[in-house]
Amino acid sequence: MNWFNEFNLPEAKSTYASDVDALFFFLNATSFIILIGTTITVIYFIIRYKRKSDDDVTPLITHNTQLEIAWAVIPLILVLIVFGWGFKGHLTMRNVPETAYEVKVTGFKWAWRFSYANGAVSPNELHVPAGRPIKLVMSSTDVIHSFFVPDYRMKQDVVPGRYTTAWFEAPEPGESIVFCTEYCGTSHSNMMAKVIVHEQADFDLWLASNKAPTNIQNPIEYGEKMVTDNACLTCHSLDGSALVGPSFVGLFGRDGEMADGTIVTADENYIRESILNPQAKIVKGYAPVMPTYQGAFADEQIDAIIEYLKTVK
Ligand code: CUA
Repeated sequence: MNWFNEFNLPEAKSTYASDVDALFFFLNATSFIILIGTTITVIYFIIRYKRKSDDDVTPLITHNTQLEIAWAVIPLILVLIVFGWGFKGHLTMRNVPETAYEVKVTGFKWAWRFSYANGAVSPNELHVPAGRPIKLVMSSTDVIHSFFVPDYRMKQDVVPGRYTTAWFEAPEPGESIVFCTEYCGTSHSNMMAKVIVHEQADFDLWLASNKAPTNIQNPIEYGEKMVTDNACLTCHSLDGSALVGPSFVGLFGRDGEMADGTIVTADENYIRESILNPQAKIVKGYAPVMPTYQGAFADEQIDAIIEYLKTVK
């Protein structure tokens, strides 16, 4: 069974992944046996009951009680096995162990942000300790996303306006890929993140070195943190390349042509408007897909972003 699943599926890296794989194997194996059985029966019937002459008449058969009971009861038993097995796995996945370490997950177009109890924030990288249950408390700021880690056999929708939860435990340190599996717009296919599983001691170090700055005085540094924490760089590059939106390089002070032909200078007011009301002015050649941050960013945060953008040359 293991060889089959290893051939078919990504490596099983969570405590419940092998249960999921075992049930999946059972479904595949029984389906395959039934397929072979029916195929052989059909071929046998074709040969055995081929009409050989004109007076070769088919006898009238109304029913066969034993056969009918058999083909009702055997599938019933199979379905009950699959139900019981699947329900047991479902309960395991839904009941979060009480010792679980909690991480807040925010999905938004088009990135993931992970927040920890000490104020640490890591965009697109979920850092967790090995050998400990991890509870994810997830929400979305815009549309429905779905948090899927194939290595863990774990998938959960992330919905705006409410919290959904999921949990996993990865016994070994390593890395796994996170996909968004709910179509959420232009950059859905780029909405990926990584789970990085550390030994407990390494995780503690990582967490301590990433705790929230207690007293940020430098607005440029704060602006840079805003830009990385909110994954602005998913759509706006720092190397001059055009992604979903215009590059940040040399943006501040530049004259740009908008979709309606007007020329607009990227000053403080323009950047502020682009953050709060992104559809007001669309740069020529780009789609109007940026979400608004109205209500999400305070004025001094927008100020800091502007100060930081001035330094991106
Ligand atoms: Cu988020 Cu697809």
